[in-house]
Amino acid sequence: MHVIGAAGLASSVPLAALQAGWMDSKGFTSAPPSEDAVTPRGYATSFNNFYEFGTDKNDPAELGSRLTTEPWNVEVAGLVGKPGTYDIEDLLAGVDLEERIYRLRCVEAWSMVIPWIGFPLKTLLERFNPLGSAKYVAFTTLYRPEEMPGQRSYFSSIKYPYVEGLRLDEAYHPLAIMAVGMYGQVLPNQNGAPLRLVVPWKYGFKSIKSIVRIELTETRPRTTWNLTASNEYGFYANVNPTVHHPRWSQGSERRLPSSLFNGNRKISTRMYNGYEEVAGLYAGMNLRLNY
Ligand code: MTE
Repeated sequence: MHVIGAAGLASSVPLAALQAGWMDSKGFTSAPPSEDAVTPRGYATSFNNFYEFGTDKNDPAELGSRLTTEPWNVEVAGLVGKPGTYDIEDLLAGVDLEERIYRLRCVEAWSMVIPWIGFPLKTLLERFNPLGSAKYVAFTTLYRPEEMPGQRSYFSSIKYPYVEGLRLDEAYHPLAIMAVGMYGQVLPNQNGAPLRLVVPWKYGFKSIKSIVRIELTETRPRTTWNLTASNEYGFYANVNPTVHHPRWSQGSERRLPSSLFNGNRKISTRMYNGYEEVAGLYAGMNLRLNY
């Protein structure tokens, strides 16, 4: 496992680097600002979308600590030879963790660059012996209103639990990973502890957090944002600068964090978020209809 967190360096962080926004107070450093410099850890762990804790970007970091992540079980169901309820320790036993530095492009037109710690989703799914009839994989986030205030809100725009899904061939693509950590440390609750999906060529809402259920299905699973506003959020949600959200352009994005020194770093959005190697998964498909 390649670990690059360096908490011990805090006292030697140069002020100029901190101010420039490419080194955080914990001493995490990335290359000097270039488009794909790693986002400072402190930023990626305090500017979050995790509606179960509230809709403000700082709600998950402020309220996420209430979430109990031990013990953690994942139910595996549907078209698999080995269904059951698995303790996360058992799921991770013998798994080789690796670091993957990925761009994360939110459908809201901002993006970050995050060093995840995880393993291929395919490795996990194959453990349960998917049946030949399985075509999709569906994921469900924990539903625990007593610890997740957003799930108690009468004004919630989305229904809980949060659900997501992938076609099985997408799930088997080597870029799709299950993450258990970031910046060389275990995942903070606000980023989806203890287990989340990361699919870097899709808008961030596909990367479902705090997973408690995985089901293999023959039919396409329903997904939270598609259920909420189907004309705005599709099942595929591949990053695509030519297919716009009805209310804003997807042609460019704000690379976060913005600061006094780097301004509002607006960059062009790339097809599949720059991960062109996935294009074959969508060969022959009309991407305007399958947004
Ligand atoms: N998963 C759940 N369960 N609930 C959410 O609200 N938000 C999604 C995704 N996964 C969300 C979720 C969205 S919109 C984005 S952009 C990413 O998580 C953000 O991940 P991050 O906070 O780790 O950057």
